[in-house]
Amino acid sequence: MRVLMIAGNWKMNTTVSEAVSLVNEMRQALDEITGVEKVVCPPFISLAAIRDLIKGTSIKLGAQNLYFEEKGAYTGEVSPLMLAELCEFVIIGHSERRQYFSETGKVVNKKVRAALKAGLKPILCVGEKLEENELGRTIELVTEQLRSSLAGIDYPGSFIIAYEPVWAIGTGKAATGKQANETIGLIRRNISELYGKEAGEDIRILYGGSVTAANAAEFMHQSEIDGALVGGASLKADEFLSIVRQTAEIKGH
Ligand code: PGA
Repeated sequence: MRVLMIAGNWKMNTTVSEAVSLVNEMRQALDEITGVEKVVCPPFISLAAIRDLIKGTSIKLGAQNLYFEEKGAYTGEVSPLMLAELCEFVIIGHSERRQYFSETGKVVNKKVRAALKAGLKPILCVGEKLEENELGRTIELVTEQLRSSLAGIDYPGSFIIAYEPVWAIGTGKAATGKQANETIGLIRRNISELYGKEAGEDIRILYGGSVTAANAAEFMHQSEIDGALVGGASLKADEFLSIVRQTAEIKGH
């Protein structure tokens, strides 16, 4: 049985004190919701403070990126070893990193390897751009991204995939539940082909892209979708709590 997950990707938002306030605002209510794994991914500089704040609760912590080397002269970068001391999850290959920081499939692959080696659980993001979607190339693109990100990696164990169509991120134009379910089904079949049927059945695949309290239920009613990676709506305590609550009600066990 796959455990549901709702992860909040705060992106480059919140100062340390704002991050602390946001977690304080929702900590107790979030902690009380069962049947869903709840993850917050604040900016690097807030990880230590949030780790202390959620100690003893059921809330988990993730980072938004990492560098693939363990240490050394890489000014400004953050290594897997540094993160492993602070958090459990790390988002890798987000489309904003691919778009604004030129992350290629090769780099994403190195990052996935480095995260796994350090004992971090990657939340690997894949998704097609609008033009690719309109040309009917979604399946091809997502398959390619998935295969290159995982090339040469033996069964990656407890990692998570987030399907995030680029045209749905931060645009307010979410995919439909049916669209997301279809592509996520395809991703699951890819994982089965790569790592066996059981791996395909076990892997958790989230939908991401303009998920809000108003549309979350549509996604959670789909059979292939195991939760959501939430951007903008994760910065509002009420909204994020509502998404987690709805998920628990619809799919929690
Ligand atoms: P959004 O972002 O919910 O603001 O669209 C999702 C994401 O980029 O992970």
